Amino acid sequence: MTENLSIPRHVGFIMDGNGRWAKQKNKPRNFGHKKGAENVEKVVSACFKLGVEYISLYAFSTENWARPEQEVNAIMDLLQKFLVKYKKTLLTNEIRLIVSGDRTRLNDALIEKILDVEKETSHFSKVLNIAINYGAKQEILSAVNAILKDGLESVTETQFEDYLYTKDIPPIDLVVRTSGEQRISNFFLWQSAYAEFYFTDVLWPDFNEQEVEKAIKSYSLRNRRFGKL
Ligand code: FPP
Repeated sequence: MTENLSIPRHVGFIMDGNGRWAKQKNKPRNFGHKKGAENVEKVVSACFKLGVEYISLYAFSTENWARPEQEVNAIMDLLQKFLVKYKKTLLTNEIRLIVSGDRTRLNDALIEKILDVEKETSHFSKVLNIAINYGAKQEILSAVNAILKDGLESVTETQFEDYLYTKDIPPIDLVVRTSGEQRISNFFLWQSAYAEFYFTDVLWPDFNEQEVEKAIKSYSLRNRRFGKL
């Protein structure tokens, strides 16, 4: 039953545990990433169905470059394939794609696909925000540097937000992290300032529609005070 639930407007997912999921099955890590990528579609559609309007996914962090080259390449390849395949769904379901992160290190084909899908979906109001080569510290630093470059001496919170990748979207209400780890790992620090956190031991490839409902039910029970009484 989901009728009386309070639905978060913006949910962020730290999709963790692909490697361990594969290991449990005696498969290579990239098999876990492949299953993880397949799972994205299911989770995204379950969230939008429940009334979530904005979804942020942590697909590749600024720290993930330290992984073996073949794993990095496999994730980049999965992201590219995902965008090629998922473009139609985004158009049909009127979902806008935003990619957060420093694109300069991504390969040309992936950059081209990101630009294409972002442009084609830019008029929709529901948002899927995918963080690729993203780090919150890097995002905040580059905002500060852009502000200095613009010759501003001080900015308000609202003006500062205009320099973030997420400038058009509201803050994150709920951060979900799978696989039992309980940390934020440089994920949208500014945007999560007042988010609720939900941690589950379920590994990302197993995080299904029922798990989405559990997370949202847990959120629904929280008493959000935003620093007030
Ligand atoms: C964390 O699991 C997962 C990642 C670093 C990559 C996330 C990528 C995907 C889910 C696939 C592509 C994404 C999209 C949006 C199509 P881990 O490798 O750290 O797992 P472990 O902690 O068990 O080793």
